[in-house]
Amino acid sequence: MRENPGFPFTRHGLELASMSLSPIPVDAEGLNIDYGFQHEPNTDLVVVTPGQQAPLGPTLSLARRLRLLDWAAKEGAWVLEDDYLSELQLTARAAPALASLDRGQHVIHIGSFSKTTSPALRLGFVVAPLPLVSRFAELAACLAPSPWLSVQLGMAQFMHDGHYMRILRRMKRLYVGQRDALLKCLDERAFETTTAGLSLLVRLPDGVSDISIARALLEFGLGPAPLSPWYASPASARSGLLLAVATSPERNLVNSCDRLREVIRRYT
Ligand SMILES: Cc1ncc(COP(=O)(O)O)c(C=O)c1O
Repeated sequence: MRENPGFPFTRHGLELASMSLSPIPVDAEGLNIDYGFQHEPNTDLVVVTPGQQAPLGPTLSLARRLRLLDWAAKEGAWVLEDDYLSELQLTARAAPALASLDRGQHVIHIGSFSKTTSPALRLGFVVAPLPLVSRFAELAACLAPSPWLSVQLGMAQFMHDGHYMRILRRMKRLYVGQRDALLKCLDERAFETTTAGLSLLVRLPDGVSDISIARALLEFGLGPAPLSPWYASPASARSGLLLAVATSPERNLVNSCDRLREVIRRYT
């Protein structure tokens, strides 16, 4: 089972691994696991972004977390937790990782320093239940070499010395400021907007091509991600634009929002 909508590269990666994927809807409590269990009772793996669902943003509720873990324990199944945003929760305190509730039984936790520090590091980590560790080590060594040992040790020291927590706090403050400025600018132009993780989601009427709008916006140096490719099939896709808070223009924000409105108007 995987989230629908969900991260397109995850879908592609699982397909490359020849897995048969069941897209499961997402609502205000995150992945709708009851729907999933009802429609896909023979699932071996659930892939989920419990912290802040990608791309819509809700946090997986505690009730659903407990049911998911209970199910995994009963079925001997695995849950892949993609914790891509880690502590970067702008609207509240970040929820504890699902893996912390599970205590090394059925959750495979994937973390990344891409959003919290820099994607240029290409540094991430997996916390796997003990029976899977050697298999993961084998595959990781085979698929992609890890970054230089100096980068890994540097990050470990960075965390140990408390710099990582400081960076997280600083980035959070910076991003909250950028999000609020962007939100205000969009509100003033009467966009229907919701906060979704580190993005703002601008909803578009269904049937409007968010891909064409995103392409047209490139001409103005604006690169929002269209929402529809995150859905499993065009039939279930909703239309929208995900505006990244982290790369929101600091200067000319007003101009950029005007351009956005202009281009959207052309297509709606
Ligand atoms: C949901 C989700 N998972 C995983 C990743 C991948 O992160 P990384 O840069 O560590 O490969 C991203 C990156 O945007 C993401 O949005």
